[in-house]
Order: sequence, then C-alpha cells, then structure tokens
Amino acid sequence: MERFSARDLREHDAAWDPLEGEALATAGAEYELLAWTGSCPEETAGQLAVLMSRMSIDTPTGELSYDPEQWDVARLRNVEDTRQRAGLTALVAAARHRGSGELAAYSVLQLTPSNPWLADQDDTLVAAGHRGHRLGMLVKLRNLRRIRAEFPAVERVFTYDAAENDHMLAINVALGFRPAGYDGEWQRALTA
Ligand SMILES: CC(C)(COP(=O)(O)OP(=O)(O)OC[C@H]1O[C@@H](n2cnc3c(N)ncnc32)[C@H](O)[C@@H]1OP(=O)(O)O)[C@@H](O)C(=O)NCCC(=O)NCCS
Repeated sequence: MERFSARDLREHDAAWDPLEGEALATAGAEYELLAWTGSCPEETAGQLAVLMSRMSIDTPTGELSYDPEQWDVARLRNVEDTRQRAGLTALVAAARHRGSGELAAYSVLQLTPSNPWLADQDDTLVAAGHRGHRLGMLVKLRNLRRIRAEFPAVERVFTYDAAENDHMLAINVALGFRPAGYDGEWQRALTA
C-alpha cells in the first residue's frame, strides 16, 4: 500500500525553522550540505550512483519484492540526459560527511513545465551508516526552500511512500505533508 501525500506550499511553514534548527544541531558540523540542479558534479557522481543503488534495496516495499538495481555513473548520466531532453528540472540536495568525504544523503525534487504549479518528490535516501543525524530532514527542507525561492509558481509538492515507511513518513508529516490518497499494489510471482 502506498500513501500519496501533498504539501501546499502556499500554506504557512512555522514548523520549518525549528525543525531545521533541531536537525542542524543533531547533524552538527560533521556534515556539509550540497545542492545542484540537473547534472551532478563529476566528483560526486560515482558516490551518488552508489546511493541510488541503495534506493532499490533500503526502501520498504511491504510484501512486494523487487530486484536490486545496479547504478553507475553512465546510468545516472543517462537519466539526467533523458530528463533534460524531456524538459524536466531536477533539484538535488545532498549531505556529505566532512571527515570521510562520503556522500551520506540525497533528495530529488522534479519539476515539469507542463504543470508549473507542481513539484514531484523523487528519491530520498540516507546511507545506513549515516542515519539518525536528521539528514533526511535537512536535504528535504533544503529542496523545499529552493522551490519556494527559485520556482514561486509551484503551489504543491506531491510524494509517494510505502505505508509502512515510518521514518520517511515521520519527516514528511513534520514538514506539513498531508495524506491525499492511497493505492494498493499487487505482485504476481511467475513460476517457470
Ligand atoms: C527515511 C530516511 C531517509 C530517514 O533517515 P534519517 O534522516 O537518517 O532519519 P532520522 O535522522 O530522522 O532518524 C530518526 C530515528 O530513526 C532511526 N532511523 C532512521 N531511518 C531508519 C531506518 N531506515 N531503519 C531503522 N531506523 C531508522 C534513526 O536512527 C533515528 O533514531 P534515534 O532517534 O534513536 O537516533 C532513511 O530511513 C532512509 O534512507 N530510508 C531508506 C530509503 C527510503 O525509504 N526513502 C524514502 C523512499 S519513498
């Protein structure tokens, strides 16, 4: 079961400053935030591909089961090129661990020119070894603030989460996302 949630960006965001303050205090000075639009900087692309592979493994899927995906820089560049050719804009926020240089977290928001009032939440992931530092909150908030500042026509952000994804849903609810629908998914196992 997937929960579909929406955040109306025209609504007041009184919770965002305290949430960001608490998240920054928890993450401390160990992490730095990065942001880009479209193409990932070359020096970060390999690490981003590793985190993108983890999306297919770490995300709860209820009773459905999917094959793990393999991502590398070529596949990442292919997705970026396809988005660009389709006229889509991807805003990416990420967090890097200063001590090790490891990319620890990323989140992607996608904008479609045919629906300028809408932003779609794509991947969000924190690498397992870096969880518990509120990096998910920080990267999501960074992107939401960028949307507000750079794309004032956007009125709503949509996101889809597995109904059992408590950790992601807790962050989304705190940021003001509200349930807007559910969909059920079925999987048929094919026997040879
Ligand atoms: C959702 C997610 C980004 C949150 O990570 P995060 O920002 O590190 O989470 P928080 O810092 O808010 O963690 C809050 C608490 O939950 C724990 N926690 C977070 N994610 C957890 C997980 N997947 N499994 C178990 N515990 C988790 C943290 O350790 C922390 O515990 P503490 O308060 O006792 O220290 C992360 O769980 C994740 O990457 N999940 C897999 C990818 C995913 O599901 N993406 C969403 C797809 S729609």
